[in-house]
Amino acid sequence: MIIYNTKKEIREALAKCRAAGDQTGAVPTMGALHEGHLSLIETAKALTDRVVATIFVNPLQFGPNEDFDTYPRSVESDLARLEASGCDLVFMPDRAELFPPDFSTKISVAGVGEDHCAISRPQFFDGVATIVTKLLLVLSPDVAVFGEKDYQQLAVIRRLVRDLDIPTSIVGVPTVRQADGLAMSSRNQYLAAAERDAAPALFVTLTRAAEKLQLGHDWSIVQGWATARLIDAGFSSVDYINYVDASSLAHIDRANRPGRILAAAWIGKTRLIDNVPVKET
Ligand code: PAF
Repeated sequence: MIIYNTKKEIREALAKCRAAGDQTGAVPTMGALHEGHLSLIETAKALTDRVVATIFVNPLQFGPNEDFDTYPRSVESDLARLEASGCDLVFMPDRAELFPPDFSTKISVAGVGEDHCAISRPQFFDGVATIVTKLLLVLSPDVAVFGEKDYQQLAVIRRLVRDLDIPTSIVGVPTVRQADGLAMSSRNQYLAAAERDAAPALFVTLTRAAEKLQLGHDWSIVQGWATARLIDAGFSSVDYINYVDASSLAHIDRANRPGRILAAAWIGKTRLIDNVPVKET
């Protein structure tokens, strides 16, 4: 596995791979890698010949009062995990390599990039869309792999790639969970022991809510039930629990098409997100 810090070097290395006839797969990350990220690498390896992971904690996607400074950084163990997972190349630029001091462009995805997480994190999807566009332009991968845990992020990336005619196939990978159902997340490290014990209630509640929808229950009742259940389980507040069309992310209230329940909730000082599918009945 070879590590590159500049755009020029990684571009040259990937151009050589392509010249040799290799298909390339990209896995963009912010580091603090866990099993969820490794499943993205595994998928990229299964689909392509050469896998490049990126590690970059993107300042654009953090709000002024969010955890950019304290976001977990564990480069040595990340690199060891990537190497063990069979990743071929790593792109690890510093901030100046990607953002000149007068950087002033923003990619903004209307529709799927609004509502849900965008309400409490208004800068988040523009920040993600801008960095992902830049990474796809630097790497020009045939395939790029992202987790379904960040379901709205995945929808934003699919949309920008389609709208901007970026010739990369976007592949979504199902969420990897702990044995008790908690979705793997770099931010799980923030949870104190009692919070960690309560956290699986998010997935359990969303799963039950999906079952209730499939039994024909009214969404407004299910939403109220799910909110109360999370608070009972020890969550401090619920940011949102929304039932949406699986591709447009528009609000729906009946299981007459493929849907998704998306949620974000606070447990102490940690904001957790999760989502589950709701089949068409
Ligand atoms: O999901 C993440 O880790 C980040 O949002 C991403 C896609 C790497 C962009 O910084």
